[in-house]
Amino acid sequence: MNLRSVSEILPNTRVILRMDLDVAEGDDSRLVKSIPTIKLLLGKQCKIAIIGHRGRPESKDESLSLKSVYLDLMSLLEPDGENLIESVFIEDVGDKEKIDQALAVDQIVFLENLRFWKGEENNDPDFLKGLVEMSNFYVDDAFAVAHRKHRSIMLYKNLPGFYGLSFIEEAEKIAKVAENPEKPLTVILGGAKEDKLKYLEELEKKADKILIGGKLPKLLNPSPASQELPLTGEPKIVVAKLREDGLDLSDEDINKFKEIIKVSKTIIWAGAMGLFENALAKKGTEEIAKAVAASNAAYKIIAGGDTGASIRELGLEDKIDYVCSGGGVMLELLTKGKLPAWE
Ligand code: 3PG
Repeated sequence: MNLRSVSEILPNTRVILRMDLDVAEGDDSRLVKSIPTIKLLLGKQCKIAIIGHRGRPESKDESLSLKSVYLDLMSLLEPDGENLIESVFIEDVGDKEKIDQALAVDQIVFLENLRFWKGEENNDPDFLKGLVEMSNFYVDDAFAVAHRKHRSIMLYKNLPGFYGLSFIEEAEKIAKVAENPEKPLTVILGGAKEDKLKYLEELEKKADKILIGGKLPKLLNPSPASQELPLTGEPKIVVAKLREDGLDLSDEDINKFKEIIKVSKTIIWAGAMGLFENALAKKGTEEIAKAVAASNAAYKIIAGGDTGASIRELGLEDKIDYVCSGGGVMLELLTKGKLPAWE
């Protein structure tokens, strides 16, 4: 893999920086991982237009505005409130004149949630055209969304493209495990995003066991029957039965999953096992997190905003070999060996 690094960018230029701004509640790790790339660009006296998305809005939705994320990022860049970095937040990403004027004076120009406009997810070539025309380079440091063919991910088609420092690190780590995982390989899938399920068929070829929890058992099979599905023989997909209210793993699921985790040599986990944000539905995620952390013989990767946040909340991060920012992207790279972000 040879991803051109942001460190090669020419000084005194205008750079569009795509970041992972879809932050989990109370967890700023997706911002923290891009600080070295931002500092490197500032050190080169580049003007930076930061773009990204938050959540899955259908249209403009104030509760998903990036304004607060912008303020959090600026506090991370200037923790003592020095206010030396000139920056501005722009609400209308189509206001070419305003962005142009801002880039003339400010070092950081931070744009509103791109998913407020249809052009982002439709990969409309006219969306962000003005910004592209006034910029010299594109830097992608948004690994968690690198599996989406969205406009802000594909800008390397319009401008000379480079990758941020954290993007390169994440891509290299995951690609290495994808190429040659030590067996048995167990993949644990959870959370609420149904799109994870589309990777099942490919994962089945690669993994020895696939454990399914979170909301996914209900999406797979709306009539809850406890199951250990032998699909086409081994490997088997083990779908959690869930406890009666459906919000978390049952004790039986927890024990079954733990037995499999114990004998695994590589563990890849994406998605919480229950409704982790609800104190009464944390047990499954906590128990599985502890079991994964305790499996000393295995190489362990945790992926995704919420899974990473839960591991941090439990203070188990240092027991995990690698925490990757995105679950979906990790599954895409694991099963396909490449990503739309670098096609
Ligand atoms: C994530 O949170 O996994 C990424 O930001 C991707 O978000 P999406 O699944 O809504 O495209």
